[in-house]
Amino acid sequence: MEYAVETFQLTKTFESKEKGQKRVVRAVDQVDIKVKKGEFFGLLGPNGAGKTTLIKILCTIILPDQGTAKINGYDILKQPYEARNSFGWFHGETGGRSLYWRLNAEDNLRFYAYLQNVPKDIAEKRIKALLEFFDLSEDRKKLVKEYSTGMKVRVMLARALLHNPPILFMDEPTIGLDTISAVDTRKLLQALNTQLGKTIIFTSHNMFEVEQLCDRVAIMRKGKIIADSSPSQLREMLRDIRAVEVEVKESSDLQKIAEKLANTPAVKKILDTTNNAHTHIIRLQVENEYEAIPEIAEKIKSLGIKVSAIRQSEPSFEDIFVKLARGEEQP
Ligand SMILES: Nc1ncnc2c1ncn2[C@@H]1O[C@H](COP(=O)(O)OP(=O)(O)O)[C@@H](O)[C@H]1O
Ligand SMILES: [Mg+2]
Repeated sequence: MEYAVETFQLTKTFESKEKGQKRVVRAVDQVDIKVKKGEFFGLLGPNGAGKTTLIKILCTIILPDQGTAKINGYDILKQPYEARNSFGWFHGETGGRSLYWRLNAEDNLRFYAYLQNVPKDIAEKRIKALLEFFDLSEDRKKLVKEYSTGMKVRVMLARALLHNPPILFMDEPTIGLDTISAVDTRKLLQALNTQLGKTIIFTSHNMFEVEQLCDRVAIMRKGKIIADSSPSQLREMLRDIRAVEVEVKESSDLQKIAEKLANTPAVKKILDTTNNAHTHIIRLQVENEYEAIPEIAEKIKSLGIKVSAIRQSEPSFEDIFVKLARGEEQP
């Protein structure tokens, strides 16, 4: 079977100097992934895991030290031009910086189509269709500097599609976006996958986003792929670490309060308590934090406990890594 993306023991080491000390980082460490044509593939990992480095190698922006990869059947080292013609690239962290702010959206796209060697008549048709797809037709003559962040993202997505590539690399496309633009961007990516049949390789450090969008998820840590799973497996892992934390104002008997709160239907169990001079925090495992928070608040009120905060406890990658490591121990 020919894959959209296939990597073979890809490895990249960086050497840098920090305060005069040599620092060696294996950013990508013997990575083997296979992405099927048409798949929405998620690469999930904390900051520094190596996601961007891996994507940059696949986009032929940096060279690997070892190993190689095939994009749409083309070897990135032996056939870089053919490989490049097969994908579009979008890097969220650059924000709108890769556009010309003093040009309008249409002219930005014309300029990039020219750089990509797209023949003029094809380019004009494609630009029109892309502006429509990304709901930018009305604003196409407006200067990009007047665009909102969400609109700039849409122009950059359009830009990645100018040469009509079958594969899209989306490196943290929702990073730094407000909630509404992030939701819009996710919808657009889904449409690119389902309506236009694009294969999408998507990176994120947002577990819920990856679970929601992707057909398959690889989890990356310190340059290595440590798990390859379905979104339902990821969902299961996340369910186990969904939590709410309650910060109690002053407490001599935190454990007793925790037990009382755990008696709320929305709470599954007490995860842990932190009790020191300044912080008194109870972490409770819940099925759904949005339903649990009002219930817990109600309980706190009826018990007359003084509380300074109730909030969603962000699931941490460490929780997931610990779970994965435990899973490996059990045959
Ligand atoms: N050009 C570089 N020089 C030195 N170290 C780098 C360079 N690029 C990335 N790194 C290091 O490689 C590791 C992986 O970084 P990166 O691929 O950006 O991770 P992610 O995208 O998952 O946040 C980090 O430790 C980072 O500091
Ligand atoms: Mg990155």
